[in-house]
Amino acid sequence: MLTIALPKGRIASETIEIFKEVFKKDFDFADRKLILQSEDFRFLLVRNQDVPTYVYHQAADIGVVGLDVLEEQGLDLVRVLDLKIGRCRVCIGIKESEELDLNKPSLKVATKSVNIARNFFAQRAIPVEIIKLYGSIELAPLVGLADMIVDIVETGETMKQNGLKPALTILESSAYLVANKNSFYSKKDEILSLYESLSTAVESRN
Ligand code: PRP
Repeated sequence: MLTIALPKGRIASETIEIFKEVFKKDFDFADRKLILQSEDFRFLLVRNQDVPTYVYHQAADIGVVGLDVLEEQGLDLVRVLDLKIGRCRVCIGIKESEELDLNKPSLKVATKSVNIARNFFAQRAIPVEIIKLYGSIELAPLVGLADMIVDIVETGETMKQNGLKPALTILESSAYLVANKNSFYSKKDEILSLYESLSTAVESRN
């Protein structure tokens, strides 16, 4: 029996679709239920940012989570397979009328991905002030809170609607199947057999 943490929303639905395809079975969460038990799997529905926590503490053996979240949190998990769903980019966004200038002294960067942003600028020895926000990041440059943002771009619509543009891609992200290190050894056969089935399904979808 494998316990699998899924992030609520589109990635969970798409992952369940892949499981349905692979195992030719119905896996459907009943209304507002957070656990779905089937013969071989137990699915947990959790917040996107909480998936690594469940897997790291082995409350789930494996999980599905965006590379952006993995990179931001930096927990020690086994990256088993790129599921190639939930694709997005982590980008530097600036005002549409501006050019990206990373040499400006005293750059202020608003973001919810503080670690990704900090690492990016540190690797290039660019001094910046990181301003942590929890959402609506696109607002920050419009009201002078920051010079630029580091944020997730999916369709690009939010930036566009707010007079911003993606100026540089920091990270290309998609959803990964990840495993707890101990589970990866103790349930190796189950995880590898799941890996085999899922990777065939992922390849045939792409
Ligand atoms: C994310 C991200 C952008 C938006 C990008 O926000 O922070 O704001 O989605 O998507 P788009 O390129 O398709 O427009 P989210 O929806 O998670 O809301 P938040 O502002 O509360 O973080």
